[in-house]
Amino acid sequence: MASDTLVKISINDLKPGMYVEKIAEQKGNLQVASRGKVTKRAIVASLKKRGVTAVIVDTSKQFIPEDAPPPEPIEQAVHDIEIPTPESKPEPVRKKVTFDDEVAIANKLHKKGKSIQKRMLSNVAKGLPTDIAVPEEFSKNLVGSIDRNPNALLCLTKIREKDDYLLEHSLNVAILLANFAQYIGLKEEIVQELALSGFLHDIGKIKIPDKILHKPGRLTDQEMNVMRDHVVFGIEALREMDIPERMIRTVGEHHERLDGFGYPEGKRDDEISFYGRMISIVDVYDALTADRVYKAGMPSQKALQILLKDTPDKYDRELVQKFIKCIGIYPVGSLVKLNDETIAMVVKHNEDSPLKPVVKVFYSLKGNHYVAPQDINLAAKTAKVSVEKAVLASDYKIDFNAFFEEKIAI
Ligand SMILES: [Fe+2]
Repeated sequence: MASDTLVKISINDLKPGMYVEKIAEQKGNLQVASRGKVTKRAIVASLKKRGVTAVIVDTSKQFIPEDAPPPEPIEQAVHDIEIPTPESKPEPVRKKVTFDDEVAIANKLHKKGKSIQKRMLSNVAKGLPTDIAVPEEFSKNLVGSIDRNPNALLCLTKIREKDDYLLEHSLNVAILLANFAQYIGLKEEIVQELALSGFLHDIGKIKIPDKILHKPGRLTDQEMNVMRDHVVFGIEALREMDIPERMIRTVGEHHERLDGFGYPEGKRDDEISFYGRMISIVDVYDALTADRVYKAGMPSQKALQILLKDTPDKYDRELVQKFIKCIGIYPVGSLVKLNDETIAMVVKHNEDSPLKPVVKVFYSLKGNHYVAPQDINLAAKTAKVSVEKAVLASDYKIDFNAFFEEKIAI
């Protein structure tokens, strides 16, 4: 070992392919005996977690990590992150169908997604192998439904069972991320890849103790530190499933923030991939709007305001703007009160009239009873009603889930 090849570097500069000779600096009392190859990012994350702040690397022992992604041709990389203008969007290949025709299929798919997610989580918890072909096939079907009519699955993201947060959040991130990817014109293969990344992104949470994972209310700093491990646990589980490195990176970056205050690696700016920036926006949006056992989800408009407040510090400005456009002022699946004292669900955006979506009226506040669902295009000249405000089902004690199952998703 020649001493002139030994270099002290910050843990933030340690990358797969380097050889660690010894730990140079570390916080805390935990002794880390780490000498050897850094074969993957998870090792760096693990060292950071143990308080290591600097290491001595031997530059003469650099190597090509086995799990390094093959170098991507520059043209391909540029194409993948290019956001086409609306004019350059490829023509949809799949046949479009109506909301009413798609909603029953989407409902079955949504239920299937929850059961696949449940099985995968159980396998990861028990350390059993998971066949990636199952969630992969599911993600393709999910994108198929979005291609035919995105509004059916988007409505289903609003159907929440309070005890199923983990299952539904993963499914919703898959749906919202695929929809977002399609909205900005990414190619089909990438849309499917992002759907699968969303579906798998929180899989490591199953390794977090229940009392922290299901704690009603805010986590303490110490509990938060434990919770943060879910990303590294997730990466480890995904590596065993042998999925492409680019997807592992997307999943691994869903809690990274542009200002460097995210986790697990505290990456900054360009260190976070384009897809990592996308998933972080979608993940936060769904988490904020979700109903939990201990609190009702916030209205979409408020969640989008919070995202905007943290932009551009934490989130990519251009992507947040596009996401807000994609979600719309009144998101598909959300409820609105109309000025004739009825409650309706938004089922379609009108691009030219964002304040006048197509809605499905289903509840009358005069007498508080359900009415036969009726579609109204609020942008039509013949429409006699308009949106008064966005509302939540909980504001009116409406069991929207049951109604949706019985009357809409038949
Ligand atoms: Fe997460």
